[in-house]
Order: sequence, then structure tokens, then C-alpha cells
Amino acid sequence: MAKIAPSILAADFSRLGEDVRDVCSRGIDYLHIDVMDGMFVPNISFGPDVMKSIKEDASVPFDVHLMVTEPVRYIDRFVTDNTEFITVHYEACSDLAATVRIIKEHGVKAGVSVKPGTSPEVLEDYLADIDLILVMSVEPGFGGQKFMDSSLPKIEYYRDKRDDLGLSYEIEVDGGIGSVNAHLVRDAGVDIIVAGSAVFRAPDRDAEIKGICG
Ligand code: DX5
Ligand code: ZN
Repeated sequence: MAKIAPSILAADFSRLGEDVRDVCSRGIDYLHIDVMDGMFVPNISFGPDVMKSIKEDASVPFDVHLMVTEPVRYIDRFVTDNTEFITVHYEACSDLAATVRIIKEHGVKAGVSVKPGTSPEVLEDYLADIDLILVMSVEPGFGGQKFMDSSLPKIEYYRDKRDDLGLSYEIEVDGGIGSVNAHLVRDAGVDIIVAGSAVFRAPDRDAEIKGICG
């Protein structure tokens, strides 16, 4: 059974607190917070103040996904006593090792994400210091895109590496996943599944969440 992190990018922003309370009451593990800067990705979502505004509504920890150029500039803004992970993109950091170190110095678990076109081997030198690897199964920037199955061998690669090296990072996947295809990423060995549209737009959220986790 996988853990689930619904992405609030697909929530109804006009009643965000209500939507957050609703999904948090359905046995989810984390709330996925998609932050986009209009530079690393061609879209702008929201920033730390919006995240902090739902802190009282969120009864599960925040899983923050920074799609931001040089995210090291903003780490401290996303640290709250409810922040479990802060994930940055390999492609967005000029000094990934320092960025990971600074996240951990704040007492938060450090995640690193790779875009679909990035080869999984690029994280080789960082694996021992990372708490979470986020494999993108769509091009970052927008919700509601089609799942790319090129993410599956990457999940398997990180799972096998973890076994070979005796490491303990978690593996997460993000983009285009719902109850219809979640078995693919579960079979590849993923630990945490991000799902935006599938959960927030589901006619039956409980059934959708159950179908994703397996
Ligand atoms: C894409 C975001 C995803 C996205 C997932 O840039 O990182 O978290 O919101 O949304 P769905 O599940 O709709 O593909
Ligand atoms: Zn995301």
C-alpha cells in the first residue's frame, strides 16, 4: 500500500480551507503544496502565505514541492511546524548539496525532484543525503496532464539503488496519476503518490483515494 499526498493545486481556491479540511478527513498522509514561480516553470501558483493560511485546516503534514529557480532563496519561508518535506528540483539549483543541507538545517526532510527528461543517474552523488526523491511523471508546471510511463524505470532505478546501497530515502511520483493507473507506480516500488485532479475532482473522493493507495 502506497501513501498519498493530494495536491492542492487542483483544489477550489475560492474555498481552499474547506477543500483542505475535506481531503484531510479522508485518511490521507500529506498535503502536496505545488509552488511555481513562472520562471522554472511557465506557470505561477501561490506562495508561502497561502500555504500558511491553511495550516489550521491541515491535519496532515505539508509536502512542499518548489518548482522555483534557485529555491535556496525561499527555503525558510516554507518552514513551519507542519512542514515534513521541502523538495527542490535538481535542474533549478546551482548548488544542490548546499540547498539540501540548508533544508535539513531547518529540521525539515530534504527532497530532490527530477524532470521527465533528466536521467536518474544525476543524483548519484547526493543519494546518501536525500530523504525523498520525487520522480516527475509529467512536465512540471500544470495539473491535469497525461501520465508519462517513462517514469516507471526511474522509480525502479531509485528503488534498486536504495537496496544496493542500503539507503532509506522515500520515493515519490507526481503527475497524471489516479485510481486507474496507480497500480503501475505501486508495482514499480513507489512509496508516496501525488494526485491532484484525480482526488479533488473525484465524484467519490474516498473511493479514489483508496484506489490510488491500493
Ligand atoms: C505539476 C505538479 C503536480 C500536479 C499534479 O507541476 O507538480 O503536483 O499538480 O496534478 P495531477 O495529479 O492533476 O497531474
Ligand atoms: Zn507537485
